[in-house]
Amino acid sequence: KYQAVIFDLDGVICSTDQYHYQAWKAVADELNIPFDETVNHRLRGVSRMESFEIILEKYDAEMSREEKVSWTEKKNTIYKELLKNMRTADLSEEVKTTLDTLRAQGLLLAIGSSSKNAGFILKQIGLGDYFDAVSDGNNITKSKPDPEVFLKAAKYLGKEPKDCLVVEDAKAGVQAAKAGGMDCAAVGEAVKCKLADYQLSTFSQLLEAVKNSTKGACTK
Ligand code: BG6
Ligand code: MG
Repeated sequence: KYQAVIFDLDGVICSTDQYHYQAWKAVADELNIPFDETVNHRLRGVSRMESFEIILEKYDAEMSREEKVSWTEKKNTIYKELLKNMRTADLSEEVKTTLDTLRAQGLLLAIGSSSKNAGFILKQIGLGDYFDAVSDGNNITKSKPDPEVFLKAAKYLGKEPKDCLVVEDAKAGVQAAKAGGMDCAAVGEAVKCKLADYQLSTFSQLLEAVKNSTKGACTK
């Protein structure tokens, strides 16, 4: 039986995809770099600078470290402005009810996100003080697929990795969970990732995974 559930934030608890897209698109346009949904998609779960490196694959010139830092800061300024649009209404009933049910069952709940904006996003959607622990882009040196962010979350909760279940929507995140010795439930497109222990087609199916601990597809 699991004692804790560690959730990725972007793409699991809420959707910030469109804001990341708009902010990166503004930067890419200014640099005349082609950028579309396919590239945006590759940025899921990876850190801000690594995301920019992926975007720069289509940039012909050289760019110094200082310039890279400055462009990623610009992206973040635009992104943070857009995040102000997020409201408690951006937290779905299904997600909130599932979280409340898990907590009522005695499980500890944590966030394990690569984002340095995790705290701000949680506040915007009304979960500012909700989780038992938050491990995010501010307390890690290596981003997913390295397991650091999830191992820190487990440590903050006082739990062993084997007693934790991670919920992820990105391949890099599933890899990180497994590398950390944790079980992983995949949602969204991460269900294609063979490494995941559970494939959820809805968020609330997490309750089944936790209850039965029978690995595989959860179907209703
Ligand atoms: C992850 C997102 O949660 O956070 C990535 O999936 C993003 O797309 C990463 O690059 C870092 O986010 P931030 O908010 O620190 O720029
Ligand atoms: Mg994600």
